[in-house]
Amino acid sequence: MPEDFVKVAQVSDIAVGKCKPVRVGNEEILLSNVNGTIHAISDICSHAYAALSEGDFSGEEVECPLHGSAFNVTTGECQNPPANENVPVYPVRIEGDDVLVGPA
Ligand code: FES
Repeated sequence: MPEDFVKVAQVSDIAVGKCKPVRVGNEEILLSNVNGTIHAISDICSHAYAALSEGDFSGEEVECPLHGSAFNVTTGECQNPPANENVPVYPVRIEGDDVLVGPA
């Protein structure tokens, strides 16, 4: 887990409606751009080990590619089974074109 805010990407790397996986230490994080605001949640599904970045992303939701649970990328909330736990949300700070992510 990042202990302080660390730079993980450029804002220009993540177009509106797109998402991008990044790694900070051992943390796999999914950055997404919802209407121009960058959000960060865990990239790893709370159900089993699957990368949400490999699933479909639309609106505010990303769907796990393994069993289909969807997660809200702004709140980390699980939307439907089989997953029944939310995923961690990371605070995001924008400095110029830099995207920084802090501890979950
Ligand atoms: S691993 Fe994501 S729903 Fe099962």
